[in-house]
Amino acid sequence: MKKIVILTGAGISAESGLGTFRDEDGLWAQHAIEDVATPEGFARDAHLVHDFYNARRANAAQAQPNAAHHALARLEAEHPGEVFIITQNVDALHEMAGSRNVLHMHGQLDRALCGACGHRWDAPAVMRPEDACPACRVRATRPDVVWFGEIPYGMERIDPALSEADLFAAIGTSGQVFPAAAYGQHARRMGAHTVELNLEDSAASRDFDDCLRGKATEIVPLWVEGLLSRA
Ligand code: APR
Repeated sequence: MKKIVILTGAGISAESGLGTFRDEDGLWAQHAIEDVATPEGFARDAHLVHDFYNARRANAAQAQPNAAHHALARLEAEHPGEVFIITQNVDALHEMAGSRNVLHMHGQLDRALCGACGHRWDAPAVMRPEDACPACRVRATRPDVVWFGEIPYGMERIDPALSEADLFAAIGTSGQVFPAAAYGQHARRMGAHTVELNLEDSAASRDFDDCLRGKATEIVPLWVEGLLSRA
């Protein structure tokens, strides 16, 4: 049965009230990436970085999954083959909508990581530089998110999934951050049919056989309906 692999980005959570990164009012218009999303920035000013993620964690805690998240959960429940979501998002909206086969390649806001011993635990709502790791007691706690210059999570699962995919879809991502930006090209080269669902053309649109344009809450449910009616 068809294996469907789906890459999602900030655009799928935009209509849930969570900011995107590169739209004109996006997070990178308000904050300097090098200050809040790099290991060097964290070493320079851990307070600033924790404040940035505390604000995003509070925002995400208020957010609800939207029709696009629910449509993907329906696809996983009703499609006879495997549906695997690789998300660049650090929110938990896919899981809240009911998706279970989800990989957070850039980590998760609601998880914490100890920079000293590697221990992971559920993040408190507010994290501070003086927090001690529950396992080793060292004051080296950080959000369990992947910063620029760090290796994304789950690469050992992602590459085989892209090779085995019959259908690869990218939803709500600008195609500007690698390695995710090359997944469409890789999947296509390995024989998958590729579809891009996005508000506008992205830097990776040329890698896709089909491009569906519009808001995720409108085009994703229609796309899922079409897949399930043909299954
Ligand atoms: N519906 C569909 N697409 C949308 C919507 C919407 N309502 N709103 C915005 N988009 C599209 C934008 O047109 C854009 O192409 O979603 C995309 C969002 O792009 P980015 O803001 O660059 O987010 P993303 O691609 O997820 O960024 C990738 O960059 O900064 C890092 O780690 C961060 O995971 C993030 C990565």
